Amino acid sequence: MLYQPVELLNSEKIKSVIELDNLQRLSQLEILDTIDSTNSYLLRLIKSNVSSGRVCFAEQQTQGRGRRGRSWFSPHAKSIYCSLLWRFKEVQQDISGLSIAVAVMILNSLKKYGITEGIQLKWPNDILFAGRKLAGILLECSGTHVVIGIGLNLCLPQREDHWIDVMQITGELPKRNYLAGLLLNELLEKLPLYQANGLKEFVSEWRKYDFFTGKNITVHLPEKSVSGVMYGINDAGELLLQDQENRLRNFRYGEITVREM
Ligand code: BTN
Repeated sequence: MLYQPVELLNSEKIKSVIELDNLQRLSQLEILDTIDSTNSYLLRLIKSNVSSGRVCFAEQQTQGRGRRGRSWFSPHAKSIYCSLLWRFKEVQQDISGLSIAVAVMILNSLKKYGITEGIQLKWPNDILFAGRKLAGILLECSGTHVVIGIGLNLCLPQREDHWIDVMQITGELPKRNYLAGLLLNELLEKLPLYQANGLKEFVSEWRKYDFFTGKNITVHLPEKSVSGVMYGINDAGELLLQDQENRLRNFRYGEITVREM
């Protein structure tokens, strides 16, 4: 392929993709070249009375963070690193449902981008393609505020078996601003619905794309691991597992791996 320059993020181009009603919920859109972590940046701003709907993208992160204390590979202009701050009416004690809803929002934006086949969801909030990770979500709370951090692989400089990126899927250089706009449009439209009605409309969509239902899995919790067959998720977004004693068990948190039989 001939060398094609990567499209840098541009706030006007991103905004042009967002529908007017949804744009009203965007209090500020900021594009930084380099930051430690877009999530850490917004968490720091909460102390200074920041408004709900504030969004930050960065071209690169020097200390991008993943779930469970892992780091998130964040090379310059090769992915989308985005955080959105959202204020709820009550303190968010339990954000496991929100992580299911946000995964479905990312899925919808990828479908609108044209990736209509092959996306899979891994409980509680990974987006996969062909069994490889395409996007991840890191939710962090501070009182009534939640910072929703999203990392979406676009054209990573090196290939690894456990990752995939949009360019490998579509065979074309990603339209970064267009995809960032679709993602933001979806979040701004659907977060109020989640706030008003909870998980209802997201669970049915999740079930259609759940990659692990029917598979032999292990759920890893901080204190133990439990193996069995994945039974999908219940209406509260909890993972259902038929354990080795044939009991149906539900889990709000944890990480799953496939069990080789
Ligand atoms: C995961 O799957 O482990 C979650 C990855 C989340 C990465 C994103 S990139 C933007 C935001 N800032 C961070 O430091 N992390 C999230």
